[in-house]
Amino acid sequence: MKKLFIKTYGCQMNAYDSARMADLLAPLGFAGTETPDDADMVILNTCHIREKAVEKVYSELGRIRELKDGKAKSGGRMLVAVAGCTAQAEGKEIIARAPVVDMVVGPQSYHRLPEMIARIARGAGERVEADFPALEKFDALPEAVSDTGVSAFLTVQEGCDKFCTFCVVPYTRGPEHSRPPEKILAEARALVARGAREIVLLGQNVNAYRGTDAQGHSWSLARLIEAVADIENVLRIRYTTSHPRDMSDDLIEAHGRIAKLMPFLHLPVQSGSDTVLNAMNRQHSADDYRRLIDRIREARPDIAFSSDFIVGFPGETDADFEATLQLVRDIGYAQCFSFKYSARPGTPAAAAKKQIAESVKADRLDQLQKLLLAQQDQANLAAIGKTLEVLFEKPGRNLGQIVGRTPHLHPVHVEASMSLIGSVHLVRIETLLGNSLRGSLA
Ligand code: SAH
Ligand code: SF4
Ligand code: F3S
Repeated sequence: MKKLFIKTYGCQMNAYDSARMADLLAPLGFAGTETPDDADMVILNTCHIREKAVEKVYSELGRIRELKDGKAKSGGRMLVAVAGCTAQAEGKEIIARAPVVDMVVGPQSYHRLPEMIARIARGAGERVEADFPALEKFDALPEAVSDTGVSAFLTVQEGCDKFCTFCVVPYTRGPEHSRPPEKILAEARALVARGAREIVLLGQNVNAYRGTDAQGHSWSLARLIEAVADIENVLRIRYTTSHPRDMSDDLIEAHGRIAKLMPFLHLPVQSGSDTVLNAMNRQHSADDYRRLIDRIREARPDIAFSSDFIVGFPGETDADFEATLQLVRDIGYAQCFSFKYSARPGTPAAAAKKQIAESVKADRLDQLQKLLLAQQDQANLAAIGKTLEVLFEKPGRNLGQIVGRTPHLHPVHVEASMSLIGSVHLVRIETLLGNSLRGSLA
């Protein structure tokens, strides 16, 4: 057996891709390993979303170079591949800047890895694969064989046509493309057969999903969710990430009707200022978003929301930032991600004149995160004393403990038998320790 080490950066779609790369290389004799130390192959599955994400990749490549040199000295060989969004965006540059890298493969071309490995063994051929043959990849991938876990990711849609002015994703992942529903349902059944009980449907713009079945009928995400819910032993369904513009009526209605669809929605808004939203090309106003949240809450009153925010977008004034804080106060989030704007080469916003000083960004991020943390604490504390359904996923940190999640995604530690992993049980929530709840079986 040869040892394969994969390090994953970025979003859940990259996590899904990493698992698929492992599946793809298993027939070539590669088995996963936990450290790069004496791996025969290292794959860095990279993210390009912010400058920091890219810096991390190059510093990791520095460490990998030492390991590769060490392995060569003892007569071995380590193959190094860079995959993911930085690979797509900076393919040739990576090879030039980091000679340790043997091959570069974009997120739509990683099904070609076996062929690239063979080429490198022959010492010949192109080392960069970064096309967008969107229709080819999923057809070329083998059926999943890697461990799924109780909660399993399933990519249903890729790419983005929205072109928010700050974002690299439309360039790194290519245009929106939805997989056919039959393929997705077959994959969901295969995941369940291997122990998955929660299916997380993934897409850069998952609620823009529009799959076409063999009869030529078009499926919305709501219809797809409904079909996944019909699969026996699927206990829970989630989907991420959604764009406010694509929250269609049937999807909102699905939240009220499909019990397996969990009452938690990640719905990024980025900013609460209409001026900034407009400059970001988000194509909705802050009030559109407020109304949308109201409608979803009407359909599913116990739903919890999370979001992404960017502070210090070019031209953002104090008043714009205040509008973001006000939106957060109005909505009340369960948990959020927030970032300082990072200028990305080739995106329209990077060329804007009124870039915001780093110190202002830092100060705004600090203020926003204080507010978001207070809301998160409140959401956590609200669970205490309640009896909630928990899907147990894995052993906990301490012996005798198992850990699962509430419908609102809160992690819960309980002292209980490992045999409960993979099933849902009522838990009385007792205390909050850090970010995790403690409770006992009810
Ligand atoms: N498709 C998702 C977002 C994917 S990227 C959506 O439409 O919301 C995840 C998050 O990274 C974004 O929501 C945004 O908040 C953040 N992000 C993207 N580009 C960024 C940039 N240039 N600087 C800072 N944060 C950024
Ligand atoms: Fe990026 Fe906007 Fe597309 Fe999300 S919708 S991936 S933020 S361009
Ligand atoms: Fe990063 Fe690409 Fe995901 S840029 S966030 S890995 S789509």
